[in-house]
Amino acid sequence: MPATVVLGTQWGDEGKGKVTDLLGAEMDAVVRYQGGHNAGHTIVVEGESFALQLLPSGILYDTVTPVIGNGVVIDPSVLLAEIEAVEKRGVSTEKLIVSGSAHMIMPYHLELDRMTERFLGKNKLGTTKRGIGPAYADKASRIGLRIQDLLDEKIFIQKLEVVLKEKNAILAKVYNRLPISLDQVVSDYLGKYAPKISPMIADTVGFLQQSYANNKNILLEGAQATFLDLDHGTYPFVTSSNPTAGGACTGSGLGPRQIDAVIGVAKAYLTRVGSGPFPTELTDEVGDLLVDRGHEYGTNTGRRRRTGWFDLVLLGQAARINSLSELAITKLDVLDPLESVKVCVAYELDGDRFDTMPYHQSTFHKVKPVYEELPGWQCDTTHITESDKLPKEARELIALIEERSSVHVGYVGTGPGRDQLVRM
Ligand code: GDP
Ligand code: IMO
Ligand code: MG
Repeated sequence: MPATVVLGTQWGDEGKGKVTDLLGAEMDAVVRYQGGHNAGHTIVVEGESFALQLLPSGILYDTVTPVIGNGVVIDPSVLLAEIEAVEKRGVSTEKLIVSGSAHMIMPYHLELDRMTERFLGKNKLGTTKRGIGPAYADKASRIGLRIQDLLDEKIFIQKLEVVLKEKNAILAKVYNRLPISLDQVVSDYLGKYAPKISPMIADTVGFLQQSYANNKNILLEGAQATFLDLDHGTYPFVTSSNPTAGGACTGSGLGPRQIDAVIGVAKAYLTRVGSGPFPTELTDEVGDLLVDRGHEYGTNTGRRRRTGWFDLVLLGQAARINSLSELAITKLDVLDPLESVKVCVAYELDGDRFDTMPYHQSTFHKVKPVYEELPGWQCDTTHITESDKLPKEARELIALIEERSSVHVGYVGTGPGRDQLVRM
């Protein structure tokens, strides 16, 4: 499997980190292709938990070259802090390479993210306030500073002077905030960060193409998820990048014909952090049970995640636009105590039935789920590692997911640990 993509099929936090880590054992390179430190990917190895934000989840294997691709937005201070934190825990980051074309999150991006959210008031998106949206906006406006600018002091200062003039005017005149000091940014970015980051900067596209030519195994690790995608998600309640499979190409420099597998990760139920439509959302005691048993609090921001029933309409859409070749269903164990499990098979609005996702957001905000109810299994699955040991009712749920999405379920997660997984 020379190039494989692992991506989220829902609204994030599906367990992409765990699946990436699992496959990492066979990989030569693991690449982050979009997003930034809005991501929080958890890996649990022998009871020890790692919550990664910018570092690719392959970092725990010394056989893997971790790559931060051109599509990622990087806050250099966060990257350095994360490197220091994992190094302290005995994980080597020596092989990490970072694309010179990746854009940087600057102090004004953080400030603007916070201010925009405040000004949106009750219409706020519920972003992670990490500066992600403003950094990608500057990339599209062609005024972003890139990692490679850390290598050229003159260019860095030249670009920063121009951008800062505009940003400070906005901060002062629109948001009544204090200006950001050019000297401070230069001192932090060129003085503190550049010397540490420079040795990691590389032509990651060249590296990946060479690895591909040499038949190496490459894994592309998505952050966020299909319905947080800027183009395919529930806009405007989305992130500012493309977590979908196409984004894996633009964000890494591998071509579509070089990708031969796309693994979609889906929780056995749904969660969402932040604002936006959620047809199968549960606000009752079952929703609370999913939060409690699934520990559904943001890895990154600590926010309580909204929970709901599994949605096959969304999965069908995700299967098509990502051309999924396989599915990994995680957190099956969270459903263990339930008497019955509901699965959304279609939507309904004013007598109309939708078997696929309606394109119009006003419709999507109003649809009501049509459920099929399956019997629960009411036993502990957390120690199961063989598919035929899974309870019959759980296998029926998996079979329904496979049948309706037309995608084979290759893995089922039965706990957070590296070994708590059933290969189907
Ligand atoms: P990611 O952002 O997609 O990598 O997912 P997160 O790490 O943010 O959230 C997934 C959470 O579920 C983490 O705490 C994982 O340790 C945990 N997890 C992953 N797979 C399973 C599973 O099969 N069962 C249980 N109970 N927890 C899991
Ligand atoms: P992983 O990779 C879940 C959500 C935020 C917000 C919206 C926009 O761990 O699955 P942003 O800061 O990106 O501008 O926020 O996207 N969001 C995530 N939700 N998991 C994530 O990452 C997320 N990254 C962003 O909560 O609703
Ligand atoms: Mg997460």
